[in-house]
Amino acid sequence: MYSSAKILAGNRRSVSGSIRVPGDKSISHRALMLGALAEGRTRIRGFLPGEDCLATLAALRALGVHIDTADPDCIIVEGVGLHGLRAPHGPLDMGNSGTGMRLLAGILAGQSFTSELTGDASLQKRPMERVAAPLRQMGATLMTTGGRPPLQITGGVLRPIEYASPVASAQVKSAILLAGLYANGETRVTEPGISRDHTERMLETFGVGVRYGSRFAAVQGPARLVGCDVSVPGDLSSAAFALGAGCLAAGAGLSIEGVGINPTRTGLLEILQMMGADIRIENKSMMGSEPVATLRVQPSRLHGVVIPGHLVPLAIDELPLVFALAACADGVTVINGAEELRHKESDRIAVMAAGLRELGIEVEETPDGARISGGELRGGTVDSAGDHRIAMAFSIAAMCASGRVEILDTANVATSFPNFVPLMQSIGLELANA
Ligand code: S3P
Repeated sequence: MYSSAKILAGNRRSVSGSIRVPGDKSISHRALMLGALAEGRTRIRGFLPGEDCLATLAALRALGVHIDTADPDCIIVEGVGLHGLRAPHGPLDMGNSGTGMRLLAGILAGQSFTSELTGDASLQKRPMERVAAPLRQMGATLMTTGGRPPLQITGGVLRPIEYASPVASAQVKSAILLAGLYANGETRVTEPGISRDHTERMLETFGVGVRYGSRFAAVQGPARLVGCDVSVPGDLSSAAFALGAGCLAAGAGLSIEGVGINPTRTGLLEILQMMGADIRIENKSMMGSEPVATLRVQPSRLHGVVIPGHLVPLAIDELPLVFALAACADGVTVINGAEELRHKESDRIAVMAAGLRELGIEVEETPDGARISGGELRGGTVDSAGDHRIAMAFSIAAMCASGRVEILDTANVATSFPNFVPLMQSIGLELANA
């Protein structure tokens, strides 16, 4: 559904301060799901109260899991054990969240009841065969709607598989690993590239034996998960926008504390450094099984680069911001090997290219990327196509525009970064919700 919410973005360029960003979205989803399947209680600190994770929370409640959110700083999940979920009374609405839908599909494949997963207009367009096919191989019955949601799942007794995934996707890998918890034997996934490994790390925290490396992961089933305490790092994908603002600014520099720097996610830091950004990674420590750090950024003059292919999957959710920063940089930036961007919350290549052209930037779209010529941005109106990361990327690009930028259809910013506008205002950005 098209939302009438807008962001109005001005071009003030003084940014400074020290902030924390909300909890990591990927890790928040996983903490809820593993907590639900565990025996005993799981406490989640730093949970992201974004709409995507709240949809997962509601779905788990509909499956019979008691989750106490009275204290938003410490969510308590009363685990029901691997076999304690109950049939829901109606379809489970995953909202805008591909992660919620695909990971939950893996869990539902192991249940003896039938359930249906649905979502909003954007999610209804996203490919689900990539999880349905391997889950069918494991023995579950899944019906998609022309390869897309709604997704009907009748689970059952699962067998372990060895699956060579055609796409590098943490969602696909995780769905199979979660189903693998129910299968008798080792379920193994190999991938053509690196994908984030939060599921593997967190399964270990819950006491499950996992073997994993840069392109494979395997679990031994049937598994037993034990409830535990999870602290969620700040989301690097949200911190990215503040980092971008810090580069384009002319202020005293910006610090972002407690940000997750899992090496499967840090491609953006390398890309920005290649573009000339002064970013330092300080105070490194571990938060449970995930590495965290303070990121310090100083105003930097950015220049265009050819983005190395191996960094693309490690920065996949940050590429809309890279498009925006490339528009503000000197020279040409080339992105290749990013075809997956066409299957995210929107076709991110097409939507970023259209918006940047609207603001006067030359963008050549290719099937798997783009060639962006940095230049003078002008003010104007751009459509985010209901995609949270695109709305936020244009909010940052506006810092370099000669006039005000009006960004349309921005309600979904709340899926991942509910306090984006006030937090960015607090460091100096000229943003307003309208
Ligand atoms: C995610 C995996 C990535 C990413 C998404 C979150 C996850 O998607 O783009 O925002 O939490 O597993 P793919 O699995 O499709 O690569």
